[in-house]
Amino acid sequence: MSRIAYVAGQYLSHRQAAVHIEDRGFQFADGVYEVIAVNGGRLVDEAPHLTRLHRSLAELRIAPPIGDAALKIVIREIVRRNGVNTGIVYLQITRGAAPREHAFPKAAKPTLVVTARRSRPPDPRLGRDGIAIITIPDIRWQRCDIKSVALVANVLGKQAAREKGAYEAWQVDRAGQVTEGTSTNAWIVTGDGTVVTRAADTAILNGVTRLAILAIIRREGYRLIERAFTVDEAKAAREAFLTSATAELLPVVRIDDSPVGEGRPGPLGQKLRAAYVAHAASTG
Ligand code: PDD
Repeated sequence: MSRIAYVAGQYLSHRQAAVHIEDRGFQFADGVYEVIAVNGGRLVDEAPHLTRLHRSLAELRIAPPIGDAALKIVIREIVRRNGVNTGIVYLQITRGAAPREHAFPKAAKPTLVVTARRSRPPDPRLGRDGIAIITIPDIRWQRCDIKSVALVANVLGKQAAREKGAYEAWQVDRAGQVTEGTSTNAWIVTGDGTVVTRAADTAILNGVTRLAILAIIRREGYRLIERAFTVDEAKAAREAFLTSATAELLPVVRIDDSPVGEGRPGPLGQKLRAAYVAHAASTG
C-alpha cells in the first residue's frame, strides 16, 4: 500500500507528494513540526500537541494555514488512509515558498504537510533492560522551546550516540547542566527519591510526554523538583530515564561509561512507565 500524505490541500501518494524547491522549510528550516503518537487508532494527547504547535507558530510569526477543526479532520483522515493503528502522525508547517531572501516574504502561504506511518511502540526489552546514553555539548540555538525543524545539531548528536552503541545523547550546556536529549527529555531520581527534571526554560522543548509524566508524579504524590542537574549528579543518581511521544518512558542505566544506580531500571521509573503506558492507552 502506497503511503498517503496531505500536502498543501491535497491527499497524494508519497510518490506524487512534493513541496516547492524554494519552500522556506527546505532552504532555511523556517518551520515547525509535531509528532503525535497513535495508540490503538487514537491520537495520544492531541490537544497539548496542538497547543504547542500554536505556540511554536506564534513564536516564529507563522500564521496557521488552516483552523484546528480542519487540521483535526486532516490528521484523522491521514491516520485512516494510511491504516495506522499504532504509529505516529508527523505534521509540519513552514512559512511557505518564496524567492530566497532571509526576511519574511510578503505573500508566502504557509505549507502544511501531514504524514502518518505505522510503527511499533519501543521494544519492550528497552523498557525492561534500560538503555545507555552518552553526553555531548549542547551546540544548539537559544530557543529550543520552539519545536523548529532546524534539527541538524540533534541529528549529529543522535548519530554520535548510535556510533557509540547508545540510544540517546544528553546535551550539556556551558554551565555543565544537562538540557535534554536530541529528541527526548531527561530525568533523574536523586538519592532521597526526588524526581528531577529541568524546568521548561528556553533551553529545552517542553515535551508533551514530560507534561503527562509531571501530572502523574503530582497525582501519585512523588517528590518532584523542576531544576537543572549536572552530568555528575546524573551519574550518581539512583535512577534516570528519558521521555518522548515515541520513546514513551525509557530507563537510562548507563551514562557514558558509568552505570546509573545498580545498572538496572529502578522502581520509580518502572512505576512511572507503567502509569504513562496506561495514560497513552486511554487518552485521545
Ligand atoms: N521529539 N526534546 C526534543 C528536542 C524533542 O525533539 C522531543 C520530541 C522531545 C519530547 O517531546 P514530546 O514528549 O512532546 O515527544 C524533547 C519528537 C518525538 C521527534 O522529533 O521525533
